[in-house]
Amino acid sequence: MTKAIDQTFTSALTGWYRQNRRDLPWRQDKDPYHVWVSEIMLQQTRVEAVREYYIRFMKALPDVQALAEAEEQTLLKLWQGLGYYNRVRNMHKAAVAVKEEHGGVFPYDYEGLRSLPGIGDYTAGAIASICFDQRVAAVDGNVLRVYSRLNEDAGDVKGTVMKKKVSLELQELYPSEDCGDFTQGLIELGALICVPAGQPRCGSCPVSQYCKAAENGTALLYPVKREKKQRKKVQKTVFLFQCGDKLAVEQRPDTGLLAGMYQFPNVDEAMDAADAVRQAELWGVCPRDLQRRVDYTHVFTHVEWEMQAYYMTVECEDCRFIWANRDQLKKDIPLPSAFRYFLE
Ligand code: ADE
Repeated sequence: MTKAIDQTFTSALTGWYRQNRRDLPWRQDKDPYHVWVSEIMLQQTRVEAVREYYIRFMKALPDVQALAEAEEQTLLKLWQGLGYYNRVRNMHKAAVAVKEEHGGVFPYDYEGLRSLPGIGDYTAGAIASICFDQRVAAVDGNVLRVYSRLNEDAGDVKGTVMKKKVSLELQELYPSEDCGDFTQGLIELGALICVPAGQPRCGSCPVSQYCKAAENGTALLYPVKREKKQRKKVQKTVFLFQCGDKLAVEQRPDTGLLAGMYQFPNVDEAMDAADAVRQAELWGVCPRDLQRRVDYTHVFTHVEWEMQAYYMTVECEDCRFIWANRDQLKKDIPLPSAFRYFLE
């Protein structure tokens, strides 16, 4: 029989967290700006990948005021490679709102935080519990995995019903102080012990006595996987036009996928070499030669780009494109990973 999940569960988990927590740059203090930026970066991105991004971001924009005043291109550059660029645009909007509507001070409760652009239930819960000691849960994929194993709950972890249920149940378990240790304890357990891939480390788990899946050896069956929708596939031909030491780029439209980022010129179809040269001429660049073709598939959440790129040296820098050397492309121009591949 497993133990009932009550306040003893909370103490076991928070005690373990305090002993075992990773030393991460956003855990140095409880400044809501620090916690907010890290939580947004950590959505969809691994801790190890986030570390350097976080440090660089804080150097460039050390407080919410600096973020509110930053140019979009600076933000996109700081975010380049993390993907989901709307996250940083929303952060900018939220920073402006904090500055203009809240006197530069973060709202210090869940509801106030939740009203800011880009701050959903999870992020509001994380900031409110970690920074302001509020008894509110932050339910992400890690926490849902831990919960569904603890209870052998076959509910759909992608659905809002399950999230709401987990959030309400966890809320009851929050300690009366140091609420952030419970929030981060659950996250840490999901990252270090109750891992998403491979066998969980139930032998080292501080709450295995409470866990039905550990008792029955069923952890790998939870959360129950549901069939995924097929991603749409889009064929693309990408043009790497080189003139002297410069390559042609252009800015993407300001809505939709990778909005406002830069790209190498491209079309949404697979072209053979002859068609690619014709397309180049149509754009007004005069290809001198077509050197080689490189293929690369980039996977986004809902779509896959199957890209083939033609590298051409061209005569002139005129016409519709922006011409940038490799140094500028690396340092100044926000070029998403899908296109950066061809640079590297
Ligand atoms: N993933 C989401 N939030 C996190 C946090 N605060 N620390 C480590 N990993 C996380």
